[in-house]
Amino acid sequence: MSDDLFEQNRLNWDDRADIHIRDEAGGYRLQAFLDGADNLHDIEHDEIGDVAGLRIAHLQCHIGIDTLCLARRGASCVGLDFSPKAIAAARLLQQRTGLDAQFVEGNVYDARHLLDGLFDMVYVTWGAIGWLPDVRRWAGVAASLLKPGGRLYLLEGHPAFMQLDETADHLRIGFDWKNDPDKPLTTSDETTYTGDTAKIAHPVTHNWIHPISAVVNAVIDAGLTLERLNEHERLAWQFAPWMVPVDGRRRMWVMPEGWPRMALAYSLQARKR
Ligand SMILES: C[S@@+](CC[C@H](N)C(=O)[O-])C[C@H]1O[C@@H](n2cnc3c(N)ncnc32)[C@H](O)[C@@H]1O
Repeated sequence: MSDDLFEQNRLNWDDRADIHIRDEAGGYRLQAFLDGADNLHDIEHDEIGDVAGLRIAHLQCHIGIDTLCLARRGASCVGLDFSPKAIAAARLLQQRTGLDAQFVEGNVYDARHLLDGLFDMVYVTWGAIGWLPDVRRWAGVAASLLKPGGRLYLLEGHPAFMQLDETADHLRIGFDWKNDPDKPLTTSDETTYTGDTAKIAHPVTHNWIHPISAVVNAVIDAGLTLERLNEHERLAWQFAPWMVPVDGRRRMWVMPEGWPRMALAYSLQARKR
């Protein structure tokens, strides 16, 4: 993949980081977080178990709120993201809260060189691997960060749901079930997913749909043993305008009443052999 695609994505995420850290629409629950709240959603809260005392690498940590929530649960965390603006925002939040987390700027594919030592957990959630062309390379990086016995936690939008055309007012498949590394889905969105109305200066992005089989096989081939694979009827962001909010620990989005039930997200846990 050409570095240009990463660079265009990075510029877009810099713009979004600026918008998200202002949190004018409240989607990141920034003030609640600063007041001491734990912002993890119900799914990851129910699945990750007790993380106190664990050393965690949070890949694609964005503005670091979830990283800091893991630290608030007693973990020692390192967050990595390639957006300098996201990392700068994360560092400011760390300084304001004093929680046990560091933030490193860089491409996730370089994480093994950028992060010191081995981790008990690699944590990757909500809109991460779709920005990467090669899921096998990603799984190799994640495995290389883990201690023997350490675990990967991945929670993502479901690839079958991501095939939908989010601009249609009904269920319409708009995209193939997978795309090659050199054939990303290139889209242009002038606003971000939080409901903020601020315009994004670099609206073009490139992303990839990775089938669950590709992800699971990549994880197994990287030397991890799959322990859990779950599918969920809730998503962390409003993928399409017709999705309906539901409250929980933190707001999530579901299909409207009477529409077909679908898996909107999936999660896996895998342990390093
Ligand atoms: C939707 S956010 C992930 C949300 C995140 N899990 C959280 O805790 O808020 C996607 C993040 O991936 C980052 N990203 C995208 N491609 C990347 C890459 N190749 N290397 C590192 N970070 C990347 C973006 O900068 C952005 O912060």
